[in-house]
Amino acid sequence: MLIFKQVKEIKEEFNLNLSVIKNIDQLNTLSTKFLSRKGLVASLFSMMGDIDSSDRPKAGNELNSLKEFISQEISVLKQKFSSKEVVDDLNIDYSLPGKSKNIGSVHPLTKTILLIESIFQKIGFSIAYGPEIDTDFYNFEALNIPKHHPARDMQDTFYLNDGNVLRTHTSNSQIHFMMENKPPVRIIAPGRVYRNEDISVRSYCLFHQIEGLYVDTKVSFADLKSVLNYFVRELFGNDVKTRFRPSYFPFTEPSAEMDVYWGLNSESDKRITKETGWLEILGCGMVDPEVFNNVDYDSSKYSGYAFGVGIERIAMLLYGIEDIREFYRGDTRFLGQFK
Ligand code: DAH
Repeated sequence: MLIFKQVKEIKEEFNLNLSVIKNIDQLNTLSTKFLSRKGLVASLFSMMGDIDSSDRPKAGNELNSLKEFISQEISVLKQKFSSKEVVDDLNIDYSLPGKSKNIGSVHPLTKTILLIESIFQKIGFSIAYGPEIDTDFYNFEALNIPKHHPARDMQDTFYLNDGNVLRTHTSNSQIHFMMENKPPVRIIAPGRVYRNEDISVRSYCLFHQIEGLYVDTKVSFADLKSVLNYFVRELFGNDVKTRFRPSYFPFTEPSAEMDVYWGLNSESDKRITKETGWLEILGCGMVDPEVFNNVDYDSSKYSGYAFGVGIERIAMLLYGIEDIREFYRGDTRFLGQFK
């Protein structure tokens, strides 16, 4: 029967046409050619009237399945094109710069600690740590600060309910290290310390220190001074202006403090330096023999020096930061400057 031959031919033509379709416009044209009211498939349907009534059901089936097949193929391809089209429709401007990921930065205090560590490691110091929660013995007693000693009032202590303290200085690390190690000793011990102080541009309830401890036979105050001079020159350059002031700490005798010249140019310079231009960065001295006795070191044989550096002060000088609270605000506009 003619109609079956024509169905076969139209199907072949369709397959051939379909295989070269490249875009949605061509597909629409193809769809019109085969499926529209005046299309090829419709023209076959219009021939049904001429077909013998006994052959009509079979011919009808044949035509329906042709139409079904063509519609199916076209809609599958249409879907394929339209998913690509969505991308085109978004109107993407490929020349726009990409969105950058926000990469974190090392906190300025960490940077400062790492720098100070590397300066002391170069001359043979190693790194030790003491606990932040400690007993009265390690934080005070063994450092020659007995109960009711006025020096305790200088360090407004946070006491815990169990009688322990949040360490008020890293000097507790000295005691821990000496109780566990025999002399000679050459360590620095960085870490957090806590004090119940009024918060201001100069002080915060927690801050960081690096403790230094050097013990050997025949250690002198001249050794201490030369190491600290080396330290500040490495840190701030050879032109740095410093001064030693006599001071008092229960665990050193004699004791001193070291100041670095900050300047007195602005109002904030005056606030930070208490109108002097000088900023104290560390306390130091010769280890008191009483401390050696407390840790079972022979004070007739050994001598040593110790120092405690305030990290925030150093970081403020290094980076020109005028308010200690900046370190603890977590403001990425501040922190992002230290990339
Ligand atoms: N622990 C003292 C403080 O926090 C600083 C200090 C002074 C540490 C003298 C020392 C030292 O090791 O010898 O104020």
